[in-house]
This record gives sequence, structure tokens and C-alpha cells, in this order.
Amino acid sequence: MLMRYWGRKPLKLIDELMNDVEGTVVDPFGGSGTIILSALKHDNKGIYLDINPYAWLVAFVNIVKIDAEEFMSKGEEVLENLPEVRKRALRNDYLYYPNGKPFWKKRNVERVSQFFSPGNFRKLYSILKAIDNVKTSPEVKISLYGAFCSSLFKASKMNRKNAGSWGVPSYWIPERHDETDALEAFSSEVKRFYSYFKRNKGYELHQDVELMIKNALSFKYDKDLILFTDPPFFDEVQYMELSFFYWAWLRESKFRDVAKEILGEDISFKMHYEMIVNPKRGINYTEYLKLLENFIVKTRKMKKKYLLFHYDKDELKQRVIMLAKEKWSRIKIEDIEIINQRNIGHKGGKKYILIYS
Ligand SMILES: C[S@@+](CC[C@H](N)C(=O)[O-])C[C@H]1O[C@@H](n2cnc3c(N)ncnc32)[C@H](O)[C@@H]1O
Repeated sequence: MLMRYWGRKPLKLIDELMNDVEGTVVDPFGGSGTIILSALKHDNKGIYLDINPYAWLVAFVNIVKIDAEEFMSKGEEVLENLPEVRKRALRNDYLYYPNGKPFWKKRNVERVSQFFSPGNFRKLYSILKAIDNVKTSPEVKISLYGAFCSSLFKASKMNRKNAGSWGVPSYWIPERHDETDALEAFSSEVKRFYSYFKRNKGYELHQDVELMIKNALSFKYDKDLILFTDPPFFDEVQYMELSFFYWAWLRESKFRDVAKEILGEDISFKMHYEMIVNPKRGINYTEYLKLLENFIVKTRKMKKKYLLFHYDKDELKQRVIMLAKEKWSRIKIEDIEIINQRNIGHKGGKKYILIYS
């Protein structure tokens, strides 16, 4: 995978489970696109949904066929045409919910802009504007925004020596941080993206795969589609809250216009519809289970369904099994344990359960 994301499931595990699957696979909680990528590799078609525009961007570059040479030449063009910028902060980038409460995962910082030194901030802003100005296909442009996002963490004060990724999923600046120069970070991401696009053939958008930014609870599930998904479970990873780090930047660019060109509709960042447990937003286990029940009811007529969960509390696992038994009637259950999974974000147990019917 080219871009990482919290809660990503191990591709090897998904690949094994995908051996028995034949048809069009829909993953309505798509995240970084692991499940859909595996479905495509197994000669199926795929439909990806996620409510989070940043997850969509990650899945896009991981899955879609991109012209590597065009991407590289436009990446170089960006670096050669950096406009002068005076900006010192992003708009409305405070780490607070609309209800005025601080993000659950906010620690020692108030806003996204604070993660960047003034020098790196200006360089990043200038890269973003240069990407906006480049003339190329929407696919290549989305990939450039992807490379930009991939360099944000490294160019931020969250970065620590020898710790390449966002290991602790919360908003904090470690005492000993070590931000990389923004131009260097972007340039090295462009090279990394280029070699991924060269190595992987990628899949044709609208032919092999559809990628949508949508609420899983308002999608119409055709009974002939195969459901294969892992919804956010009871772990504490706050996908949209953490993605706000990227969204606060993307929002200042033409990313939304380019995404609209591809999707044919406006996109937005709707934290409100996220299916998650979050005490700060007043969403407890009961609320979460109600949403999950809605989802299970909506998908009940589908002929083939796979629901994969990571869990650490047995009691909650049992409640989900009960729900599936009640609404899907005949189900099978498999317990899966994964040792040594490389996991960014939540570092809990590695116990999974597969419910299928
Ligand atoms: C456990 S992650 C999926 C990880 C993915 N399988 C992977 O390997 O990258 C769950 C995803 O569900 C998304 N999500 C949460 N609520 C949603 C909703 N109502 N509709 C669609 N997606 C939602 C989150 O944004 C998150 O990306």
C-alpha cells in the first residue's frame, strides 16, 4: 500500500478470505481500500465507500491506475513553480467540535497550524498552491494532493527521529521532535509515489472500481453485491478527528473541485455521520450499536456478507454476534488471531472475528 491509514487490516488476511469470493464486492467502510484492492486482485469488481474524504484520497492513490511518468513530471513542475505566500495559519483549524468541546484526542496543541514552524508552513502552503496551478488529469492531481498529505506528518512537529509515521493516534507535539524540511519531504514522497505507480498497474476507475465518499447508512445495497467490510469497532481510533489534520490543509486547496470532477458531486467533511464511539461527542456504545443495527438491517437481503471486526472486549463481541444472528439469521463465525501485525494507530490485541452469511 502506498498511503497508510489508521485501522488498516492486514492485506494477507484479507487475501486469504477473498479466495472464495466471486462477483462485485462492496466495502462501505472502505478506509485505505485494502479490502477492495484485494477483491480487484482476485478478479472481482469493487465498490468502495467511506464517509471520510481523506480516507477516499488514501484509497484512491492505493487503488487507481495513475500515469507514473505524467505524475513524476507534474511533481517536478510543482517544485519548480512554487509561488510566494505570506500565509501564517490555516482557517478554522482549531481542534474542537462544533459543540465547542475539544477533540477527544487533543493533547498539547490548539490548532493544526501549530504543528508547523513558520518556515515549513509557508513552504507547504506554497506547494499546495503550486499543485492547484498544475494542469493535468484529475487522477494525477489527486495523486499530487496525496503526496502532499504524505509529506505533512514528516514536515510537522509531530515527527520524531526514526519514527516515520503517526504512531500515537492523538494530537500532540512530542518534546523531542524533528520536522523534515517540507520541500525535501514532498520531493521524497513524489519519488515514492512514482515508484509505486510504476510497480503497480492500478485499476481503472468506473470500469473495475467505483470509489465514493458516502455514508454507509444511506447507500442502497443491491442483493447481488457481495458485502465485505470492517466497520469502525469499539477501539478508540477516531478516524475523522485525526483526518482533520489533513482536511484542514486540503480544504484550502482545489482538492474539492478536483474530487467533484471525478465524483460528479460536491464533497464535504461530515463528522456528524461517522459511526464511532466518542464520549466527547456524546456517542456511547448504545448509540453505536443502534447505528450498527441499522447497517445490519439494511444489508440483510444481500446474498453473501462478510463482516470483519477487531475486538478487545469479549462482551462487545458477543453483542455484535447477537445482532447479526437476529437480523441476518444464518451466520457462521470464525475467530482469527494475528501475531506481529504492523499496526499504525491502535496497538491493542490482534484478535479478529469474521461473521459471514
Ligand atoms: C476500520 S476502518 C476501515 C479500515 C479499512 N478496512 C482498511 O483496511 O483501511 C473504518 C472506516 O469506516 C469509516 N466510516 C465511519 N463511519 C462511516 C459511515 N457512516 N459511512 C461510511 N464510512 C464510515 C471511517 O472513516 C473508517 O475509514
